[in-house]
Parts: sequence; C-alpha cells; structure tokens
Amino acid sequence: MAEKTVLNQTEEKQEKKKVLFSGIQPSGKITIGNYVGAIKNWLTLQEDYDSIFCIVDLHAITVAQEPSELRANTWNLLALYLACGLNPEKSTIFVQSHVPCHAELAWALNTVTYVGELNRMTQFKDKCARHADNINMGLMDYPVLMASDILLYQTDLVPVGADQKQHLELSRDIAQRFNSRYGTTFVVPEPYIAKHGSRIMSLQDAGAKMSKSDENENAFISMTDTPDEIRRKFKRAVTDSDTRVRFGDDKPEISNLLTIYSAFAGCTVQEAEKEFEGAGYGVFKPRIADAVIAVLEPIQKEQKRLLADKAYLNTVLAEGAEKAYYRARRTLTKVYKKLGFVPRA
Ligand code: TRP
Repeated sequence: MAEKTVLNQTEEKQEKKKVLFSGIQPSGKITIGNYVGAIKNWLTLQEDYDSIFCIVDLHAITVAQEPSELRANTWNLLALYLACGLNPEKSTIFVQSHVPCHAELAWALNTVTYVGELNRMTQFKDKCARHADNINMGLMDYPVLMASDILLYQTDLVPVGADQKQHLELSRDIAQRFNSRYGTTFVVPEPYIAKHGSRIMSLQDAGAKMSKSDENENAFISMTDTPDEIRRKFKRAVTDSDTRVRFGDDKPEISNLLTIYSAFAGCTVQEAEKEFEGAGYGVFKPRIADAVIAVLEPIQKEQKRLLADKAYLNTVLAEGAEKAYYRARRTLTKVYKKLGFVPRA
C-alpha cells in the first residue's frame, strides 16, 4: 500500500515535467557546432525534462538528397545521438517519418498560416538564393512542418539556436491563432535559451556559423573527422595577426577557438585564457585539437559499435516511434475534432 503511494507520487512528478522537443536534420555531416550548440546541452536537459529528440528526415528532403545517403545519414545520426549519451530510457528518440501525424498536422496548420508569413522567413529567402534550381513547396512550408513537430507534443520548451528563433516565433503565432480560432488546443511553446549556449563559428570565417554545408571542408570539424583531420583543420584555422590568446569582440577568430576549447576541455573561457597566457597560437592550436579529439574519439568508437548493431538500433527506433505516436495521435485527434472532422468509425 505504502509502496503504491510512492509509485503514484513519482508517476505524478514525471507527468509534471515540462515537455522539451528538438531535432536535427539527417542531411550531411554533423559538426562540432551541432554537438556544442545542441546535443551536448540535450544531455543535461534529458535529466530534467520530458524530452523528445527527433531526427527530422521530412525536413531534410526540402533540399535535394541522394536517397542512399539520406538513409545512411539517418542511421549515423541515430547512432551519434546514442553515442553522445542520449538515453532512450529517459527520452523519446525517433525518426520523424515514422510518425505520420507530423505531416498530417502540418496540413491542418497550413490552413492557419499565411503565405506572406512564410515568404518573410529569412531562412526561406536564404535557401531560395542557395538552391535557386529547387525552390519547392516543401522549402517554403518547412516552418509549418516544424511548428507541427513542436505542437504535436504539447511542447513547453524548444532549445534552438539563433537561426531558428524566427521559426519558433512562427510556431507560437500559429499555436495562438489556432487556439483563438478553435479553442485552446496547443501549448504555446517557449524558446529554451541554454545557459552555455555557445555558438561555434566557421574556422575560416568567424562571421559565419560553422555549417556542415560549407563548401570549404576546413571551415568545420565533423563529428566523424579523424584525429589527423582535426589537427590539420585547427592548424589551418584563420587567426588574427596579434599573438595573444584573448577573448574579445576585436578578436572573433580567437574568441571562437577559445569557445571551442572551453566546450571540449570542460573549462570556462576565462580559465582557458589564463591557461594560454603568454603562449602563442602555435601552442594554443594543437591543444584545442587535443581537447576535441579526447571527446570525439570515444564517441566515434561507440557510434561505430552501435552502427554494427542494427537490431538494437531498430529496437530503439521502434520504441521511440511508438511512444511518440501515442502522444502525437492524441493531439491530432483533438485537432481534427476541433476542426469539425467526422471521426472514423
Ligand atoms: N529546423 C531545425 C534546424 O534546422 C530542425 C528542426 C525541425 C527542429 N523541427 C524542429 C528544431 C523542431 C526544434 C524543434 O535546426
């Protein structure tokens, strides 16, 4: 009897945890920017929140993908999530296309989203410029699908980088508009601003975000780069002509390297500055490489081990899809009812 009460209390407590949702596209290589800016933070968040981590393959096809590569990238990203320490017992980890509700809700949300709103999205405009030969409807509708991801799970918090703020703002507008038109249906999500929300910039141009789609391979460190590649890329990283390892607006390249070092060595930027006081870039650069390699090597080893165990990965995906589907379906049923659809008998 007493045991049962305790159990009920813990269950209740779990139910009250705030819902957190985030996702990464399985397109191309995942960089240390994705790791520091997203996955690394998720590891701590999954302890405190009812966390849902998605692999957003439906989003990925809005730019042309080679099907065999998309498939491989999806497995790689799943194995990477797990190798980094995302725990399928604590969090819901799944592939977006496994839960059809995402596409279904997106359709309904399309009817409360204005073309003008989507036309104004900066990322849409950027992508139109970069993929002028493939300005497809999916590219334009990308933010509505993202709103669908978030709203389906009655998400409270969405950890997003600066480049996704506008999309999250639109998700909030869509939720509020639907709620006011049809009655309260969705939780209106809030952005989660990470305490250590470091943004990693390109190693070749500290004014641009480190991106996996950069044409210059030296601009980013991929999570699967070998120690030699990592050392070489840091060696070639652009620096200023000053020699001091100091953080500051006047030293964007060195500030970026200090941010990377502190994220991987597990210290503050101030501690890193102290550590390299009086040392030149020739000393600093190989030490950054060492710190990054020390973190990546065990992750890469584990990722490789997991990729060889497809049976296990499939179990994770099946369980994740089931957990996600159950919750998503509940919201979608509610939405269909509000819209006036006759339920399927
Ligand atoms: N658009 C996000 C990105 O490129 C990925 C994404 C899709 C996402 N759906 C999401 C992020 C929902 C947070 C919540 O980074």
